[in-house]
Amino acid sequence: MKKDIAYLHTKKQKRQPITVLTCYDYPTACLQDEAGIDIVFVGDSVGTNVLGYKNETEVTMEDMRHHLKAVRRGVTNAYLLVDMPYAADRDATRAITNANLFLSDGADGVKLEGGMEKVPIVSALTEQGIDTCAHIGHNPQIHGTKASTHGRTFAKAKQLIESAKALADAGATLIVLEKITEEVSQIITDTLAIPTIGIGAGRFCDGQVLVINDILGIGPPLKHAKRYQDYSHLTFEAICRYKEEVANGTFPIDANTSHIPPDKLTRVQKWLKSTH
Ligand code: KIV
Repeated sequence: MKKDIAYLHTKKQKRQPITVLTCYDYPTACLQDEAGIDIVFVGDSVGTNVLGYKNETEVTMEDMRHHLKAVRRGVTNAYLLVDMPYAADRDATRAITNANLFLSDGADGVKLEGGMEKVPIVSALTEQGIDTCAHIGHNPQIHGTKASTHGRTFAKAKQLIESAKALADAGATLIVLEKITEEVSQIITDTLAIPTIGIGAGRFCDGQVLVINDILGIGPPLKHAKRYQDYSHLTFEAICRYKEEVANGTFPIDANTSHIPPDKLTRVQKWLKSTH
């Protein structure tokens, strides 16, 4: 069954946690979809996690569309969410044009970063019938890659709660809460009718999102994430073993090889001789 916004909203009402992972390529999309992940999310974290960029502001629409199309081919059931890259949502006209490009590539909804200042953009996208996910707290496009926790003071907590309400009132269908204190995230979750998806935002959001590289053990360990695999170590070990076996002649062996039938080989050898 293809998951849509209504399905995700029902999960919130039933208090069933929503599962979200970032995804940047076709094989990983197939695995996430098969595992039953609710939202497969092509984040602009593709820039720092896959493309070797220094930060999110380097990511372009072309980058996002390239990875979105690859992920799209692997997704059958999950809701497919894609990030608006830096400045792609600078004004309403640009946001609508770019969101429509993503929808034509197969996305179900778009996510954009920012608080109150993004309310008019969310309204404009909603008026066009485009599913829009808001994203408050730590915003890598605005605050850079080094994340600090938001919502530790009264003023900041109030600002976050007010932004979340305004974005939901403007029509946001989901909201990501990144690096926000658990208490403030819980207040936002209890206040809003739309699902909250937390990353480093504590235990009480309606769903959780992590960067796929962080659960696989690619890159450094992070406090908000959990490693379920030691990809870097296992991959490095595989590369070293391959290199060693090619170098010492133990790969390939006969089982990795295809042969020409002996009578055909004899014919080739005779033909070769006749050409000299
Ligand atoms: O791009 C990203 O990875 C994000 C996070 C919230 C998961 O936006």
